[in-house]
Amino acid sequence: MYYSDEVIEEVRSKNDIVDVISGYVRLQKKGSSYFGLCPFHNEKSPSFSVSRQKQMYYCFGCGAGGNVFTFLMEYENYSFVEALKYLADRGGVKLPEQEYSKEAKERADTKAVLLEINKLAARYYYVQLKQTQGAHALSYLKNRELSDDTIRAFGLGYSNKYSNDLYQYLKSKGYQSEMLIKAGLISVDERQGVYDKFWNRVMFPIMDVNSRVIGFGGRVMGDGKPKYLNSPETVIFDKSRNLYGLNRARSSRKPYFLLCEGYMDVISLHQAGFTNAVASLGTALTPGHASLIRRYVQEVYLTYDSDEAGTKAALRAVPILREVGITARVIRMEPYKDPDEFIKNLGAEAFEERIGKARNGFMFSLEVLEKSYDLHTPEGKTEFMREAARRLTEFEEEIERNNYIEAVAEAYHVGIGDLKNLVGKVAVQAGLAVPAKRPKQTNQQHGGKEDGIVKSQKILLTWLIEDESVFRQIRPYIAPSDFSEGIYRTVAELLYEQYEAGEVNPARIMNHFADEEEHRDVAGLFHTRIRELTSAKEQEKALKETVLRVKNHSIEEAAKQLDPTDMPGLQKLMDVKREMQDIQKLHISIN
Ligand code: CTP
Ligand code: MN
Repeated sequence: MYYSDEVIEEVRSKNDIVDVISGYVRLQKKGSSYFGLCPFHNEKSPSFSVSRQKQMYYCFGCGAGGNVFTFLMEYENYSFVEALKYLADRGGVKLPEQEYSKEAKERADTKAVLLEINKLAARYYYVQLKQTQGAHALSYLKNRELSDDTIRAFGLGYSNKYSNDLYQYLKSKGYQSEMLIKAGLISVDERQGVYDKFWNRVMFPIMDVNSRVIGFGGRVMGDGKPKYLNSPETVIFDKSRNLYGLNRARSSRKPYFLLCEGYMDVISLHQAGFTNAVASLGTALTPGHASLIRRYVQEVYLTYDSDEAGTKAALRAVPILREVGITARVIRMEPYKDPDEFIKNLGAEAFEERIGKARNGFMFSLEVLEKSYDLHTPEGKTEFMREAARRLTEFEEEIERNNYIEAVAEAYHVGIGDLKNLVGKVAVQAGLAVPAKRPKQTNQQHGGKEDGIVKSQKILLTWLIEDESVFRQIRPYIAPSDFSEGIYRTVAELLYEQYEAGEVNPARIMNHFADEEEHRDVAGLFHTRIRELTSAKEQEKALKETVLRVKNHSIEEAAKQLDPTDMPGLQKLMDVKREMQDIQKLHISIN
């Protein structure tokens, strides 16, 4: 499944990063770099820079950065291989035929075929809507005040009133029943034979972030049940990793998304000019959705239905979003049921006002909680404050926790100091003095100490990348093998090789990481800014401590592995330990 480094580097070198990015972002030359408005966050003055010399980009505003592959992975949401194929094509490089395993090849083929089938089905449904047989479906949509433009933009369609209409059509295009069943569009049973899953419904194609159709929702016209029928999950349709409307919302250039419950809500909002609306696909919000959203925005306004289920869903969503660093706000739709009804009755301006009045997610959760206590009695209020304090302990970061303590104290008229004490007390009582460990969504699950050492290795690498003179000073003491096995050691190995060969080529190092998570992680090494934070002297001190920490950890690990009878090994360990003393005395100078 892997392409050789040579091929990847050839593709990269045939695609100048400035040329490629110019296709997406208007760039202007300033000094040795090019600047433009960052496509990954909302901004008015350009802080997005592209370096022709380094073949890397970096945004000083949001920290996005990497090489030409990273850019396409982020912007087009391509996988590494997709980005590679696209750029190979663009640069006229012929990629070698892959030696796929049989399963991998079949999986890739199935995916491609299912995408084709879904695309054809979407076109077919769209055409039906415009024919005589679709007239009542079209008038249903018109009654719901959708314009022709909106219907086209969302590709809405109609599934005919015949039992195997789509099946016949797709068969005539040469697709096997087996594939049509895999696509979730066809069902078979002994009694009825083969029949279409969707029948006499208004069809909502569900697209991935690149506007490829991956499934459908079909709505009955009127009050039949079930109201919506959805495609089952397939190899291309993962409900917990896709959001309805994201293909359009991603380019809305607003710094936040409106997250709602239904397809119709998204469509109405877009039609009313709120092109940053998205919805989950008939399922509750998952951590997968949250990380997906986090690629585009750091803030989410929840516009869930105003009924009890909607309120509950909003309360559940707030911590899931917070876990990935997204601030949630809650917009209330009362007296209407959902954004669609709200907009129809009060219009876009009134909705804009509600956005302005959105409540902070945490404070909203307390307002809901409040309803189950009698705040007019001392016991009731005490009990309520205790629960509020317990929830406050869940903010791991002290500054954030204190900000919320202040806000809660003000809202509920209690002293800040008193509330702080209560939070502390509750934390100790619950054994939370060390904040409760929440599950991490990343795949690296280290204990606290491991986390620390990984961070140190990362910082050290960033230094080594950034400053050749630092590299020369540290090189006698730190070798690539001092980094833990895995991506950081690989980066160190490549970097040391490049320094020895006399030319550091960060864009080339990045090529090495085809896995999306790894690629992003490595991209982070190349644009972490360490310098501006402190004075040179403080930096020197911090750097030395980092070197010591990394070395120390490496020695500890080696000691753990050592066989006690291995005398030469023991001797070597002693030597290395002595080196530690040299490092203690070392003066690293930073210019
Ligand atoms: N949903 C579903 N199956 C159902 C009902 C709902 O999958 N039987 C999902 C759909 O994704 C739907 C969302 O839950 O869009 C929200 O449901 P609801 O609020 O009932 O639908 P709306 O999108 O508001 O549709 P409408 O305005 O047409 O009633
Ligand atoms: Mn609705």
